Amino acid sequence: MTTPPEINFRDTDLDAIDRAAGRVAVLIGAGGKLDAAGRRVNKLTRGALLRFAESEAFEKMKPGEVRSLAWPSGMGAEAIDLVRLDARADIEQARKAGAALAKLRNAADMLVAAGNHKHADQIAFGLALRSYGFDTYKTDAKPAKGAVSVMCAKPEEVAAASAAHAAVAEGVFFTRDLVNEPANVLTTSDFAARLAAMQELGLEVEILEEDALQKLGMRMLLSVGQGSVSPSKVVVMHWNGGKKGDAPLALVGKGVVFDTGGISLKPAAGMEDMTMDMGGAGVVAGVMRTLALRKAKANVVGLVGLVENMPSGEATRPGDVVKSMKGDTVEIINTDAEGRLVLGDVLWYAQERFKPAGMINLATLTGAIIIGLGHENAGVFSNDDAICGQFLKAAEAEQEGAWRMPLSPAYDKLIESRIADIKNTGGRPAGSITAAAFLKRFVKDDTPWIHLDIAGVASVKSDTAYAPKGATGWGVMALNRMIRDNFET
Ligand code: BES
Ligand code: MN
Ligand code: ZN
Repeated sequence: MTTPPEINFRDTDLDAIDRAAGRVAVLIGAGGKLDAAGRRVNKLTRGALLRFAESEAFEKMKPGEVRSLAWPSGMGAEAIDLVRLDARADIEQARKAGAALAKLRNAADMLVAAGNHKHADQIAFGLALRSYGFDTYKTDAKPAKGAVSVMCAKPEEVAAASAAHAAVAEGVFFTRDLVNEPANVLTTSDFAARLAAMQELGLEVEILEEDALQKLGMRMLLSVGQGSVSPSKVVVMHWNGGKKGDAPLALVGKGVVFDTGGISLKPAAGMEDMTMDMGGAGVVAGVMRTLALRKAKANVVGLVGLVENMPSGEATRPGDVVKSMKGDTVEIINTDAEGRLVLGDVLWYAQERFKPAGMINLATLTGAIIIGLGHENAGVFSNDDAICGQFLKAAEAEQEGAWRMPLSPAYDKLIESRIADIKNTGGRPAGSITAAAFLKRFVKDDTPWIHLDIAGVASVKSDTAYAPKGATGWGVMALNRMIRDNFET
């Protein structure tokens, strides 16, 4: 697993700046004001820092941006990284500053002089998040990155705050690794094994195999995986950190390890992107990991449906009718609308078994949500304003884009079937909403529920503020915060 860098926090020691051999980062506030570390570097470099701080180049920098001065005279450092960050900077700006520094990390050590900045922990968090790289399959040996230390006021307190951030960063990295992993490696069995390994962290993990799913009547889910040689599985992860007997929050994830479309085969161009079609399950796994690492005082159950959607002589055909665990029959119009089939059965199972206080599902469900919202926002659908509000607030605080979409009964008629109770597609209009309307059939009226369509945000083609191109880990931070703020005892 890719692990976040270990960051060490210590008291400010100006003499350490003279001696540092790697990179030294200093913060410069609005108006070019230097702190003690900045003044020390300025003195060592005979005024270079002040000239920069008074320059137009500095004035034009945005909060959180960095400029580097290489091989400065008067110091042992190989570079000085000048970070524009005001004392009054908010959390987002502090994280961005850390992320900008992460991009400059190399084999040399990095010493970040955060002075008495109130968000020293957030600088470190941004630095950790952006230090991710997925190079498992790059055979050139990459030199190890240097150590990171942060000089700050009250380092013990900052280190304590950072321990909670580290649990989040590790959950985010776990999600990103799962989403980036190719489908010949991350099979349904390999995925289940990686989840089972989390028992070491105190999670209870159960794996339901095909015979058990058959007995439960999850024919809808099984119909998706029946063309693949990889066995379908449902994995249930329990984190019981809350009061005994309190109804849990249920997180449910779509885990299609590869989506060819099945008999309704997808076009070749871009099909390789469908290794990320387990993104919903990846986020559920990342959140569960974070909850366990930080020993959250909440009861949360994570359920993922792991299947592979392949064409074969045994695959489901368009026109087939299958029965769901709930009992509703479904006409399969398009075998590429498979995510809703997987989720419908797992959502029903989650409610029957756990009577959850709330239920949130995540899925790379529709291409249509990308047409609607692009790669900036996930689609949010909910039957309950209260729980939806809690999520939107947490997502906003974590800067994870989320936008609520309508879910009114008027759309239900688009998925009426001629021969069965419902059909699995509603045509092109409102494609994301009819997918949500399908899921809603498997949600009981008294279960507060959110469906997150993350097709546009789970994995992207360009770098984001906190991740290189590829898997983002979108949602781990928002869900962790939502649980922390609303579901802990
Ligand atoms: N996994 C796809 C959705 C998707 C598309 C995710 C692009 C990420 C990026 C999903 O299973 C799918 O194929 N949906 C179809 C539904 C249609 C057949 C009703 C789609 O969106 O085209
Ligand atoms: Mn599909
Ligand atoms: Zn899919």
